[in-house]
Amino acid sequence: MVSVHKGDWDKSRGPDLGPARARIENVHEFNRAWLAAAQRVLKPNGSLWVSGTAHVIHSVGFALQQLGFKLLNDISWVKPNPPPNLSCRYFTHAAETIIWAAKNSKSRHTFNYKLMKETNRGKQMKSVWGIRPPESWEKKFGKHPTQKPVALLDRILLASTNEGDLVLDPFSGSGTTAIAALRTRRTAVGLELSYEYLALTLQRLTSDLIRVELSLTTIQFSLDLLPDPMDRSCSGRFLKRAPFSCKPSTQPQPMSANLKLVQQECRFYFIGRHNRVVIFSVLAPTLEAAREKFRASGHPDSDALFIIKTETQIYLA
Ligand SMILES: C[S@@+](CC[C@H](N)C(=O)[O-])C[C@H]1O[C@@H](n2cnc3c(N)ncnc32)[C@H](O)[C@@H]1O
Repeated sequence: MVSVHKGDWDKSRGPDLGPARARIENVHEFNRAWLAAAQRVLKPNGSLWVSGTAHVIHSVGFALQQLGFKLLNDISWVKPNPPPNLSCRYFTHAAETIIWAAKNSKSRHTFNYKLMKETNRGKQMKSVWGIRPPESWEKKFGKHPTQKPVALLDRILLASTNEGDLVLDPFSGSGTTAIAALRTRRTAVGLELSYEYLALTLQRLTSDLIRVELSLTTIQFSLDLLPDPMDRSCSGRFLKRAPFSCKPSTQPQPMSANLKLVQQECRFYFIGRHNRVVIFSVLAPTLEAAREKFRASGHPDSDALFIIKTETQIYLA
């Protein structure tokens, strides 16, 4: 059974127990208010995307028209495996509408037409998008009841913004927009009421950042195969070359005593004997388990010249 109770934030505003009409009008008033605020901070050529199911999306569309936005598209995001409708009195809810709108009729909105065509095997991209709901790796730190798939936000940002652009998500939930922004080299600001979802966002973001840093680090390791030991610390030449600043802050801040371990992982990098780059990397609890996975991937032991083990622990201060 699919629960329709997503959270207190999803309840109508205003006189909660009033007649249905009053509730609908209050929802509409709320939509108009936040959309007007979004329109105010949107750049002249910026655009806005709003997704929603039938109970709210028509009000959003009407409010956008009332405020003078220019409607560009209504995307049907089609979910390939929708949950069954247990009442058997309706069709299964298999699509969500996403409205794309520009600030006003004068806007010259960004649309990366060529890129969209390329990613659609050379054909113009349609307004019907089949994208699977969030995969399990997207929920490994916890779930949000209306979490969007990263692939959906990747497409939205790639279609309508350019590298370096600033994206605002006023209802950021588990932070999917910020994650997609990081992946596509945009910057993002998110607003969220719930502390729980902010913490989830932080976990998702830091885990992505750590991966980026580690993959850069491995490139550096592969160049250093000389037998003489070298200083890999902040003062050593290795990190001086890397694009990260690791200067200690001049005024170290006292850290909270209640550190919370939010992520812990142990990864092994196998460096190739012949081309001396990372040929395999794997998360594993021990070296032996990692070597087993290396063999299972089709590599004989002799393929590896050496193995680097990295341990990562992230604490929320
Ligand atoms: C539809 S969810 C967003 C889900 C998000 N797209 C994701 O992928 O996780 C809406 C979020 O807006 C938050 N919210 C509701 N009203 C808000 C408000 N007035 N200000 C900030 N956040 C709000 C809720 O807590 C909820 O997490």
